[in-house]
Amino acid sequence: MTTNDMHNPVRVACLISGGGRSVVNLHKKIISAKIPAHIVLVASTRANVAGIQAAAALGLETCEIAALPADTLDDRLDAALEKSGAELIVLAGYLRLFRVARWKNRCLNIHPSLLPKFGGHGMWGEHVHAAVLAAGEIESGCTVHWADEQFDTGSIILQRRCPIHDDMNSTQLAARVFEEESQALPEALARVAHWLRHGGTRPNFTVASNPNQKMN
Ligand code: GRF
Repeated sequence: MTTNDMHNPVRVACLISGGGRSVVNLHKKIISAKIPAHIVLVASTRANVAGIQAAAALGLETCEIAALPADTLDDRLDAALEKSGAELIVLAGYLRLFRVARWKNRCLNIHPSLLPKFGGHGMWGEHVHAAVLAAGEIESGCTVHWADEQFDTGSIILQRRCPIHDDMNSTQLAARVFEEESQALPEALARVAHWLRHGGTRPNFTVASNPNQKMN
């Protein structure tokens, strides 16, 4: 990162469908870890989600584009994203399939499992963690990846792992995985922001960070 990067932060738009925990965390980490990025828009395609209020309370620009036929909704969403000047889209708890066409190589998703395991349509929130436990896994974690035209299949940027204890239920596992998500998404954003400003190889899979190593 250079001082110049801080003067020219990457413009990020976040899409959400629910509570907005990932957006709130990302915004705080951008500030505390001095990631050269700025959230220019938080958009939801569901009406009245708590995440929009949470984002607005942080002073972030928000919009809701809801209750429309799919194509119209995607067109409006694209228009709002263009208008925001976003350079990068982050799917931060977004449950619809995003029409990625205009944003190929400019769109990240975070998923609460170690993809390719436990991804795909219907695999979100507690469904993921319940499936992980039912499969008898001994570890779980999260994945940040480039979004493509399907759910959870794009190339992986990074993963963070955590152990599963015998007595863990899905709520406890979700909370534990979210701790890792709170590190993984800012870390991926920092790498992608660097790539957008300085070029080089597009960020791709690296072995999980040292779990003890945390951003500020
Ligand atoms: C996170 O677990 C993320 O992995 C997933 O959505 C969750 C955040 O959603 N994609 P929310 O902010 O709790 O609605």
